[in-house]
Amino acid sequence: MMLEPLHPLLRKAYDPDRFVRLGREILEDLAQHLVSSQARTADRSMPWVAPEDERRHWAVRLDSPVGLPALMREVVQRSNGLQDPRYMGHQVAVPFPDGALVGMVTDMLNNGGAIYEMGPTNSAMEDVLMARIGVMMGLPKGCGGVMCHGGTLANLVALLAARRHAAGQRDADAWEHGDDGMGAVLVSEQAHYCVDRAVRIMGWGAEGVGLVPVDASHKMTAEGLEAALEAMKRKGRRVVAVVGSACTTSSGAFDDLALTADFAREHDLWFHVDGAHGVPAVFSDRYRSLVAGIERADSVAMDFHKIMGVPALCTGLFYARQDDSFLPFTQSAEYLWSDAEDPEWWNFGKRTFECTKRMLSTRVAAVLEEYGSEIWGVLIDRLFGLGRALATAVESRNSKGWELAMAPEANIVCFRYLPQAFDSVEAENAFTSGLRQRHLEEGAHYVVQTRFGGRVWLRCTLMNPLTEASDLEAMLDGFEVLAPSVLRDQG
Ligand SMILES: Cc1ncc(COP(=O)(O)O)c(C=O)c1O
Repeated sequence: MMLEPLHPLLRKAYDPDRFVRLGREILEDLAQHLVSSQARTADRSMPWVAPEDERRHWAVRLDSPVGLPALMREVVQRSNGLQDPRYMGHQVAVPFPDGALVGMVTDMLNNGGAIYEMGPTNSAMEDVLMARIGVMMGLPKGCGGVMCHGGTLANLVALLAARRHAAGQRDADAWEHGDDGMGAVLVSEQAHYCVDRAVRIMGWGAEGVGLVPVDASHKMTAEGLEAALEAMKRKGRRVVAVVGSACTTSSGAFDDLALTADFAREHDLWFHVDGAHGVPAVFSDRYRSLVAGIERADSVAMDFHKIMGVPALCTGLFYARQDDSFLPFTQSAEYLWSDAEDPEWWNFGKRTFECTKRMLSTRVAAVLEEYGSEIWGVLIDRLFGLGRALATAVESRNSKGWELAMAPEANIVCFRYLPQAFDSVEAENAFTSGLRQRHLEEGAHYVVQTRFGGRVWLRCTLMNPLTEASDLEAMLDGFEVLAPSVLRDQG
């Protein structure tokens, strides 16, 4: 058989010596990035560049390759500095740096898979970890689940399970035959948009989302749940599930899960907890009570890549009854498995939306191997403690025009700064948005904004345990410094 000799480019790509040479250089740079991030040496933790400018930069730069270490240095330099304690923006983990090393190993192995044969070690570990962590969360013995790429996907898959469960009771099956499009889900009006998206994907449209009003503390109430259910029934909707948020994205409020569980039981609904952000509170003695009632959930989505220190994406979708994880999908795939109905735990593709997926369980196992689950409790205590410290700092500046939206329950804090009286709420909102934009462009810290109750708020999510009280004060000072010029420009 004639075979061309291996192309020199392919020989270069797989050369172990070159791998070590590049690796040493990149690792050194990354370590230096960690040192300078922690020392807060950059002018800004979020080097904001307008989208079109950044695009223009790369359109030119990518035409002139100068080698991997240089490219990586530039990516690091131009990216958001999550390891910088002044980054207080989005809900993305500040990964334990070990995670980068795990990523290097798992990216080399690339054993993530739909079936056991594609990634035996990773698959077996996933099954063990999901059952163990489920029990740690308070789910009953016999619980289990799957890891997947993100909370958005986990919530969709959980709702597919709920639909199948309800269909089973009615002896009809939307998975096989489609349905009449009249299903529905109840969820807080402040829930993450992915629940709404999941319901629409399932073919139930916007009308299939029964928004439950919240009280002054941003939680669903018993009356609100009953009213939302009644409203759905009046529209001829078949509600299959109620979703509790633990916690909500905008304000970080935890729905009362015990109350939601009671409601679900009374009306024979699937009880899903969207705990993408806040369910890790179960690992903290101090904050576990925030998720009391989780032990009665049918399913729970929890992101390891938010406040558990694991690089994105890495989510656990837990089921109270491991067997329920087979509800969402039944799929023939002769090249992967022979019997679509056989509940083989080891062939994860039968239970995940994804076919190929990354070696997710290795990332979680790595945290437990080095630190034990104790580190999650310690991390939650620190991050939620930072949330409370920021709330106190804002309130101590009340007389200057600072206002706290609500006492934070998690590490999400919403507040605003109105240094003078404005004519209307619209004018207040315009000022807050303008101030935030100026801060994005010039501030050393990174803070985002949100809107609820008709008002625009500045919003911090304290994700970095190395953030100190002095960083919080400096962030507030930064807004005070920028405010006069924003007022002048809006004047
Ligand atoms: C409550 C909640 N659910 C779901 C999501 C979506 O999770 P992911 O970004 O992992 O898809 C988020 C993200 O912020 C969230 O806060």
